[in-house]
Amino acid sequence: MDKWVFLNSEYVRSEEAHLSIYDHGFLYGDGVFEGIRAYNGRAFKLKEHVDRLYRSLKALWIEMPFDQAAFAGHVEKLLEMNEVSDCYIRVTVSRGITLGLDPKNIKGQATIVISTDKLSLYPKSMYENGLEVVTVATRVANPQVLEPRIKSTGKYVCNIQAKIEANHVGAGEGLMLTEDGYVAECTGDNIFYVKDGVVYTPAAHLGILEGVTRGAVIDILGEMGIEVVMGVFTRFDLYTADEAFLTGTGAEVIPMVKLDARSIGDGKPGPLTNKLIDAFKAYVARQ
Ligand SMILES: Cc1ncc(COP(=O)(O)O)c(C=O)c1O
Repeated sequence: MDKWVFLNSEYVRSEEAHLSIYDHGFLYGDGVFEGIRAYNGRAFKLKEHVDRLYRSLKALWIEMPFDQAAFAGHVEKLLEMNEVSDCYIRVTVSRGITLGLDPKNIKGQATIVISTDKLSLYPKSMYENGLEVVTVATRVANPQVLEPRIKSTGKYVCNIQAKIEANHVGAGEGLMLTEDGYVAECTGDNIFYVKDGVVYTPAAHLGILEGVTRGAVIDILGEMGIEVVMGVFTRFDLYTADEAFLTGTGAEVIPMVKLDARSIGDGKPGPLTNKLIDAFKAYVARQ
């Protein structure tokens, strides 16, 4: 179905939305992106996503022609124009157009695209039975080289390599470690585990994306009176956990029941995870 797309500073029909072959995003992966979810025609945690987008842009020194409020307004207007209720909103911004590497030769403004697309979700059975995860060889980028808190398109080459590894062994997700071997995150989701009623998740400085869903889940757990500890963990902590789960815009909260063929807890979605899945649905409904 034909739909509207926001391109640079105007709304165009999707078949008319064309990009230059000299776009720095295409040539060098020199850009950033966001994946946002709409529920009932409203973008969930839009402010948090736009904040993260602008943090990524600032870090990469990519300038935007409008401020955050105006940007959020374009996302909302596109949802209205496309008359979509539940969908995936993709935002991509690249530095702009020039063949060579040097950003000072960029002509004109950054390339900005907002589109609304169909959600691609894990099958329902995976929420009921839980995901099997394997540790992959591809590490998260070292923050000294490429800060993973920047949601840059270029960085995702690593995540795609990691996803290929996970796909090869039929795993639902791939666990990526830091260079030092500490637990970081999965290819497209943040990771949590539960031990003795306390919830643990890797600290942001380790080199993870500060997931918007991760933030929402930390808030919800706080409302539930459950302690959340952000720290540095190894796979041992996950192997010996009572429960584990992943969070992400697409996945929401999904149980993880195996890591590297070892069952986590009794190998079934845990009680706290199931409670959290329900609490997350209620949280979304009241946003
Ligand atoms: C590497 C990575 N970690 C975590 C997440 C989860 O982040 P969010 O909850 O903002 O979708 C994503 C989602 O795109 C991701 O790509």
